[in-house]
Amino acid sequence: MLQLIVNENYHALSKKAAQIVAKQVQEKPTAAIGFATGSTPLGLYRELIQMYQRKEVSFDRITTFNLDEYVGLTKKHSQSYYHFMWENFFSKVDIKEHQIHFPDGVYEDADAACEKYERQLEEAGGVDLQILGIGANGHIGFNEPADTFTMTTHIVELAEQTIEANSRFFADKSEVPRKAITMGIGSIMKAKSILLLASDESKAEAIRDIFTGIVDPQIPASILQLHPNVMVLVNAEAASLLQP
Ligand code: F6R
Repeated sequence: MLQLIVNENYHALSKKAAQIVAKQVQEKPTAAIGFATGSTPLGLYRELIQMYQRKEVSFDRITTFNLDEYVGLTKKHSQSYYHFMWENFFSKVDIKEHQIHFPDGVYEDADAACEKYERQLEEAGGVDLQILGIGANGHIGFNEPADTFTMTTHIVELAEQTIEANSRFFADKSEVPRKAITMGIGSIMKAKSILLLASDESKAEAIRDIFTGIVDPQIPASILQLHPNVMVLVNAEAASLLQP
């Protein structure tokens, strides 16, 4: 079930998202939280850092799982998602390296790397709260539009649109990795609750398409309609194509 919450602006959306994440951690200090990278959750991470500084929340007992990582980039690479999370959130709160889980972007055996991440998710008892952004093409994690849903952690060829969108973080488009390792649709759907954030006009079509009632692997996020507990936090721009 998708619950839509329209916020006045990005700041309000980020504050609301932070309250939801903090509440989960306060209620279950050992919660497994699924994190997303990208521009959209940056405001959420800033709000959580402030809440931590005000001693309203502590993350020292949580377990973290990130959605995805570029293939070929090490943890230390300035554009790796590990580095992104460390710089923008983990290092600014009381999260230590041993609490962090990421799919390995550098591996010898792709299948083993994917299986390892699925095992880690299982051993943690699954994710309690999964934070998601959404691509303009409806992707979640790096599950790109396709003919079928891929259920478990897998290696994916990034869509041209995604490479284009993400090139803003690289010196040149040719430097954007062509592949990523991502949680699958099933791995995401196993989360007990999901918080999807969208704050940009470029996401309006994708947001409209996930409220149609039709589940279509060409719009990967449309699968969320089958999940029992999804909060969709948008601002007016991202909600602009939804019928009132
Ligand atoms: C990031 C991820 C992606 C992003 C999506 C939106 O870990 O999995 O699905 O959430 O591409 O990115 P932004 O927020 O930069 O528009």
